[in-house]
Amino acid sequence: MTRKGCRPARPSGPVRVTRAPLPPLEDYLACVRRIFETHDLTNMGEHALRLEKELAGLLDAPALIVCANGTLALQLALRLLGLNGKTVITTPFTYVATLSALLWESCTPVFADVDPESLCMSPAEAARQLDAHPEAAGILPVHVYGNACDVGALDALARERGIPVLYDAAHAFASRLDGKSLFAFGDAATASFHATKLFHTVEGGCVVARDPEAKARLELLRAFGHRGDTHYSLGINAKLSELHAAMGLCLLPELAANIARRTRITDIYDAAFGIGPDGAPGRAGLRRPRLAPGLEWNHSYYPVIFPDGDIRARVAAALEAEDIHPRRYFYPSLTRLPYVQAAPCPVSEAMAERVLCLPLWADMAPELAAEIADLTLTAARG
Ligand SMILES: Cc1ncc(COP(=O)(O)O)c(C=O)c1O
Repeated sequence: MTRKGCRPARPSGPVRVTRAPLPPLEDYLACVRRIFETHDLTNMGEHALRLEKELAGLLDAPALIVCANGTLALQLALRLLGLNGKTVITTPFTYVATLSALLWESCTPVFADVDPESLCMSPAEAARQLDAHPEAAGILPVHVYGNACDVGALDALARERGIPVLYDAAHAFASRLDGKSLFAFGDAATASFHATKLFHTVEGGCVVARDPEAKARLELLRAFGHRGDTHYSLGINAKLSELHAAMGLCLLPELAANIARRTRITDIYDAAFGIGPDGAPGRAGLRRPRLAPGLEWNHSYYPVIFPDGDIRARVAAALEAEDIHPRRYFYPSLTRLPYVQAAPCPVSEAMAERVLCLPLWADMAPELAAEIADLTLTAARG
């Protein structure tokens, strides 16, 4: 019997893993009105330029461009760093877009397994793969769930080998390490502003580079490789429209409040599971990935690592039965994709069996979080 009827805390319909924040409608309409006055719909109009400027400040970015999505952001950054067509060390525990960007840029991906505590790329594994693949020209780690990679070790490794690091920071918007934005590490970093993300422009993304000269090159890559009638290089269309940029501008002022509300939901889950603030194990062996020391986490996901795949499957089935839809994020380990030939990465493959992201969004009712936690714990105990 469904208990839907006694759940005023639930949004109508299924409970999905997230629910996109929306700004006050009047704010967005004011931007749309402006777009109707100017007829500037795209090609870096005033909204996109303003968003670019605000983000550069927020992310401590010497060079930043906004673009159409996080996948294209990765592709532009790979081109910027001259990694297209080259061998790149990356992680198998990420969303498939990290890999598809590499493949679209004709790179040869080599997977370095992840650290079992943080679920981010293991620097030791990265070093091992660099030894085995001396032709590798770069490293592409991912700040999984907004947690920080071991940036000290990875950046040092890349410097030692004389190759660049590009961080896929799709999840890491507003996460800070030792007081610095995560976008301040590596040679470049990219974000996704997809609607499922903490901060979004419906679809969108950005590239941040440490070299201030990179902005002009990224602008060319983003817009067909030409300025006026002068064609400089191969480019693509990765521009962000004015309607998308306007959504971002209207959501930015809400960011801090949204993170604070998400923190409260995380606290409810943590308290119910007995999980420590850094992810330390709690009841029924449940834990979260261990957060990097010094991290100000953005609470972009609530990933639970279950003791094994059977328990994860039991919990998922119990939630699904209540029309609550957690996500196997990330599944499969990219080493297991049918169109990829890769050596096994045992940690990534085991974690892909064990992890489930529980529903989390800013204005989620605390009662709903408590109910999901209760269902999860009961099912995990079996
Ligand atoms: C880790 C990671 N990288 C890249 C992307 C691609 O971003 P987009 O969906 O904006 O293309 C995503 C999207 O979910 C992601 O999670």
